[in-house]
Amino acid sequence: MKNIKAIIFDAYGTLFDVNSAAEKCKDKIGDKWEGFANYWRTTQLEYTWLRSLMKRHKNFWQVTEDSLDKSMKTYEIDTSMRNELLDLYKILSPFKEVPEVLKSLKEKDFKLAILSNGTPSLLDELVKSNNLENIFNDIFSIEEVGVYKPDSKVYDLPIKQYQIQTNEVAFLSANTWDVSGGGNYGYNSIWVNRNNNIFDNLDYKPQNEIKNLKELLNII
Ligand code: LAC
Repeated sequence: MKNIKAIIFDAYGTLFDVNSAAEKCKDKIGDKWEGFANYWRTTQLEYTWLRSLMKRHKNFWQVTEDSLDKSMKTYEIDTSMRNELLDLYKILSPFKEVPEVLKSLKEKDFKLAILSNGTPSLLDELVKSNNLENIFNDIFSIEEVGVYKPDSKVYDLPIKQYQIQTNEVAFLSANTWDVSGGGNYGYNSIWVNRNNNIFDNLDYKPQNEIKNLKELLNII
């Protein structure tokens, strides 16, 4: 981790808890809320990869709605919940240590940015609703290149903006496939492994694995 000039964060699942929307409705959804939340997330990601391969791009909000509709049918969730779940998805909660760690990184000499599948307006709202709007130098959205992660055009965005080398980036993601995508591209990818998961076999193993963002302060 030498010569790091930019610390780039994935958004969904890394800074913000994608399950928090369904969790806030768990009294109405019942015990199946967590299975439903995981299925929604998996379907949403599959749609991003499939749309990129099919070259039929739709933005992340549309993909989030499409995957929600399939998931609600699969888990037999009452359709009256649809708008509530979508509204909550726009203001997902951050993981608890995130605001404090970002604020202390802001005092150091790094570029701080988000690099995400989200649309610019979704990401702006997410950051603002959590009072984090003054933290980031840039919020990079894949909408600029019209293809989803892990296409290398996405990982190119901060490199072009900051005119730096790929190994001058510390890239943090909790999504193993995104860690592999960024790592294969040339970033120093750091895996945020909050739930003691198993890593992928996709030609890249991160040198650094942390349990939460606080541990980043020890290695950067
Ligand atoms: C993102 C997805 C990977 O924020 O969660 O880009």
